[in-house]
Amino acid sequence: MDTATQSLPKEGLRSLLLKYGLDNGGTIGNGLIWEAPIKIFHSSHVSETEIGAYSYISPRTEIQHANIGRYCSIGDNVNVRGSAHPKEWLSSHPFSYRNLYGSSRNYKPPLTFQGYSEKTVIGHDVWIGSRVTILPGVTIGTGAVIGAGAVVAKDVPPYAVVVGNPAKVVKYRFEQALIDRLLQSAWWSYDLPKFLEQQAGVPLDDPEKMLDLLERNGTDVPRIDVRRKRYSRQRDKVVIGSAPPAGT
Ligand SMILES: CC(C)(COP(=O)(O)OP(=O)(O)OC[C@H]1O[C@@H](n2cnc3c(N)ncnc32)[C@H](O)[C@@H]1OP(=O)(O)O)[C@@H](O)C(=O)NCCC(=O)NCCS
Repeated sequence: MDTATQSLPKEGLRSLLLKYGLDNGGTIGNGLIWEAPIKIFHSSHVSETEIGAYSYISPRTEIQHANIGRYCSIGDNVNVRGSAHPKEWLSSHPFSYRNLYGSSRNYKPPLTFQGYSEKTVIGHDVWIGSRVTILPGVTIGTGAVIGAGAVVAKDVPPYAVVVGNPAKVVKYRFEQALIDRLLQSAWWSYDLPKFLEQQAGVPLDDPEKMLDLLERNGTDVPRIDVRRKRYSRQRDKVVIGSAPPAGT
C-alpha cells in the first residue's frame, strides 16, 4: 500500500481507519503504526506508538511513545507515558522550554528539553489490568500479567505475574520449561483467529498441545500479515502510509 493523503471522508475518520484494520473509538495522535486488526475503545488516546495485530486498548487509557506486541489485552485507565520533566534545573516545570501560557505571557523559552525517555516496550500476549501505570522506558516481557493498580517501575520478565506499587513478581504463568518453549515457538506470529475460521477443536486451553500442533502442522496455520500502516494528520488531511515490518 502506498502512502495516501486524503481529506476526511463524509462518514468520518473511524470508517476510514476501519478499512485499514484499525477499529478506533478513541483518539489517535501522529505516528501511530499498526498491524491489522487492532481495536482502541472509546475515550482512549494513543500517540507515537506501534501496536501489533489483535492487541486492544480498553476505555480511558493513555498510551504514548511505546512499542506494543501482538495479542495484548490492555485494561481501562492504564497509563503508559513517555514524557519526563527536567529534574536538575531550577524547576521541573516546563516554562523553561515551553510557553504554555502564550495568551498571558509573551516570552521565548530559552532552553530546549528532549522530554522523552526510551520507548516503553510491551511484548506479545501481555495482559495489563485496570489502572496500571507503566513508567517510561520499562520493558514488559512477552506473556506477562500486570495486576490491577500496579505501578511498574522496572522491567518485567516474560510470563511473570506482577502486582503492587512498585510492582513485584508474585508468580509465573507456567513452569520455566514451558515458558522457554512458548518463547521459542513465537506462536504470536500465527494468525490464530483466522485459523479458527478454518479449523474446529483447536486446543487453545492446553498450551503444550497447542505447541505440539504448531510444531507438527505449523505450515497449515496462517501467519499474521506483517504489512503495517502508519497514521498521521496534516492540517485537515489524513495520511495513511506503509511502515516497515516491526524490528526492521
Ligand atoms: C494479577 C491477577 C491476574 C492475579 O490473579 P491470580 O493469579 O488469581 O492471583 P492471586 O489472586 O492468587 O494473587 C496472588 C497474590 O497477589 C495478590 N494480588 C493479586 N492481585 C493483586 C493486585 N491487583 N494488587 C495487589 N495484590 C494483588 C493476592 O492478594 C495474592 O497475595 P498473597 O499471595 O499474599 O495472598 C489479578 O489479581 C488481577 O489483578 N487481575 C486484573 C483484573 C482487572 O484489572 N480486570 C480488568 C481489566 S481486563
